Amino acid sequence: MKVLITGGLGFLGRRLAQAILDRGTLITADGTEQTVENVVLFDHAVPDVAPFADDMRVQIFIGDISDRTVVFSLVDQAGMSIFHLASIVSGEGETNFDDAIRVNLDGGLNVLEAARTVGGPCKIVATSSLAGFGGQLPEVVGDTTRLVPQTTYGTTKVILELLINDYSRKGFLDGRTARLPTVIVRPGQPNAAASSFFSGVFREPLRGVTCALPVEPSQLAAVTGYRSVIRDLMILHDLSADQLGHDRTLGFPALNISVQDMLDALEHVGGAEARDLVSVEADPTVQAIVSTWPTALEARRALSLGLTHEQSLYEIVSDYMEDYGLVARNGE
Ligand SMILES: NC(=O)c1ccc[n+]([C@@H]2O[C@H](COP(=O)([O-])OP(=O)(O)OC[C@H]3O[C@@H](n4cnc5c(N)ncnc54)[C@H](O)[C@@H]3O)[C@@H](O)[C@H]2O)c1
Repeated sequence: MKVLITGGLGFLGRRLAQAILDRGTLITADGTEQTVENVVLFDHAVPDVAPFADDMRVQIFIGDISDRTVVFSLVDQAGMSIFHLASIVSGEGETNFDDAIRVNLDGGLNVLEAARTVGGPCKIVATSSLAGFGGQLPEVVGDTTRLVPQTTYGTTKVILELLINDYSRKGFLDGRTARLPTVIVRPGQPNAAASSFFSGVFREPLRGVTCALPVEPSQLAAVTGYRSVIRDLMILHDLSADQLGHDRTLGFPALNISVQDMLDALEHVGGAEARDLVSVEADPTVQAIVSTWPTALEARRALSLGLTHEQSLYEIVSDYMEDYGLVARNGE
């Protein structure tokens, strides 16, 4: 079978590709386990070094998700699977409304319309965000909390959630959406997401670089680790349509923490010198966006369907350090 990952050269796209290649099979819309013969990574960012160069199953395709012709040329087989991750991120979407609509909405519709035309149900897993929530929120946000996004990014994500429900209801495709908490620890450089500092607070000090926190340590947040997200995206893919029913969106499980908890975890693994590299430098723009997001999530439906999450911030940071060859100061 063919697998297409849009945004396949991004943070989660690359890790997902590796996990799919490692496992080598996925369960298709007809319920059978199929061997993955071809993984196409589609992205508009040209990588310095092409990943997976040694794996003959992988093809990299550079283009724009809002280009309908390109998307239709890549979504070309009945029964294929599409992980739709390509997206403008939250901060970027607030400063560039037109790009957010073009990439997140037009691009998403291109994927759905292309899948509708191939003549047999494709499985689609799209990624939404906790930024879909906003406005007057309860203390703990759950599966049935009303979605009133306060950013263009969040709005485009919610629209795609609803479209996936409807395209699935009509039988055009077999879709599902992962509504993700903030995923940490993102490697590399800070990005334009308002949530970027949630990774930076670990990533920068652990490589001896200062980090400016745009929010107060008392800020609450719902975060999760990338290992569990990748595992859960594959579980979500493999669930049957019947298990999901009418509502094809699963709120992914999260750890409900404070930024102070993150600073404590940083000090635990990196010592006081790592903690001292972090300073609070309030950024009203970031604060305004982050303050609209849920501060605590519960994900009963996802947990009941077998999705998982890390048990502690310490576990998340330890996974990151192991994956990126960093040694904890406490020797653990
Ligand atoms: N990482 C998180 O904390 C988080 C939280 C909630 C939701 N999400 C969602 O998960 C998905 C993956 O997130 P990520 O952290 O890997 O982000 P990322 O920015 O690393 O990856 C997204 C990829 O999409 C690509 N892209 C952007 N515009 C494109 C276009 N016009 N055409 C083709 N490709 C384009 C980017 O080049 C990038 O490689 C996104 O949909 C994001 O909104 C992520």
